Amino acid sequence: MDDVFQRNINYLRISVTDRCNLRCVYCMPEEGVNLIEHKEILSHEEIIKVIKSAVMVGIRKIRFTGGEPLLRKGITSLIAGVNEIPEIDDIALTTNGILLPKMVLELKEAGLKRINISLDTLVPEKFYRITRGGSLAKVWLGIESALDAGFEPVKINTVVIRGFNDDEVYDFAELAAKMPLNVRFIELMPIGVSDLMDWTGFVATAELLERLLARYNLVPEKVAGNGPAKSYRIPDAPGTIGFISPISNHFCALCNRLRLTSEGQLRPCLQSPLEIDLKTPLRSGATPEELAEVIRFAINSKPEKHNMEQTGWKGNRRIMTQIGG
Ligand code: GTP
Ligand code: 5AD
Ligand code: SF4
Repeated sequence: MDDVFQRNINYLRISVTDRCNLRCVYCMPEEGVNLIEHKEILSHEEIIKVIKSAVMVGIRKIRFTGGEPLLRKGITSLIAGVNEIPEIDDIALTTNGILLPKMVLELKEAGLKRINISLDTLVPEKFYRITRGGSLAKVWLGIESALDAGFEPVKINTVVIRGFNDDEVYDFAELAAKMPLNVRFIELMPIGVSDLMDWTGFVATAELLERLLARYNLVPEKVAGNGPAKSYRIPDAPGTIGFISPISNHFCALCNRLRLTSEGQLRPCLQSPLEIDLKTPLRSGATPEELAEVIRFAINSKPEKHNMEQTGWKGNRRIMTQIGG
């Protein structure tokens, strides 16, 4: 359905857990998060019910996020369940890739269509540092396993942070030049554990594009997906280079999404703290149409745009693991 700003909302991002097996410095505090009690987390059956009601209001695309969604027990059977809902035409996953090697084939068989993998650096020691202990080699095995399993496209999400990985822009571009990967550079947003960061870490897309254009001829290209990335191809390269620019290019006017937290709260906007409680009606016997009505209300509550530029780095404390990016 269209929201009050004539945006067609057809994409639901579902966070299935707030747990993660990494501790990225911009996303999670070092000690981890206070884990939500198991009973507060929506069950598979509840998630399927929500999706069936979301379909009634026009949702056609589902993305599972986390925390790390592959830590959720039974994620494969959840995906298989979603795959049985005929109206859903895209099921995608955003993961850190660590658990992919042992799960990728079952995920594919269950009906998963697309995988996006977060990877902020190509240097093992820096990866260890930014994830507070993670292994780059494991993520590589995950990326390779997704390609070997025939996923297409496989997207790489790279949050660019000045002084940390902005010196690796050409290395990431070379990845897209050599492998069938869609590398997307993401502008750092003031969301999450951001008191570790400030605008000095921010790098605008225009700056990256200028640097890349100095070396490559980039041709605009459409890549399958439902997100705000703008993509380009180096002629004849197997992969593409994309930019997600939430700060320098407000894409909110084209926003097509709604989010569901693992605790069953609908979030109309990534930035806004507004949440609409779906769990209470879900657990007190609401009919599918009644749930659909709550979802309609959430869609109609979507703000026109974020104001991260104003709220800055202190104003948005809800941790990304609970929203799912
Ligand atoms: P595709 O359909 O594959 O294009 O997916 P996507 O780009 O929607 O999904 P993904 O989870 O890979 O998102 C990549 C990153 O873009 C996220 O981690 C966020 O940093 C950013 N992002 C995604 N959705 C939004 C949004 O609605 N608003 C803002 N401001 N940023 C977003
Ligand atoms: N700014 C931009 N992207 C972020 N992500 C997490 N926190 C931020 C932030 N503050 C991204 C991760 C991952 C996705 C789930 O969200 O890198 O790709
Ligand atoms: Fe949509 Fe909010 Fe993201 Fe803007 S910031 S694109 S309105 S979710």
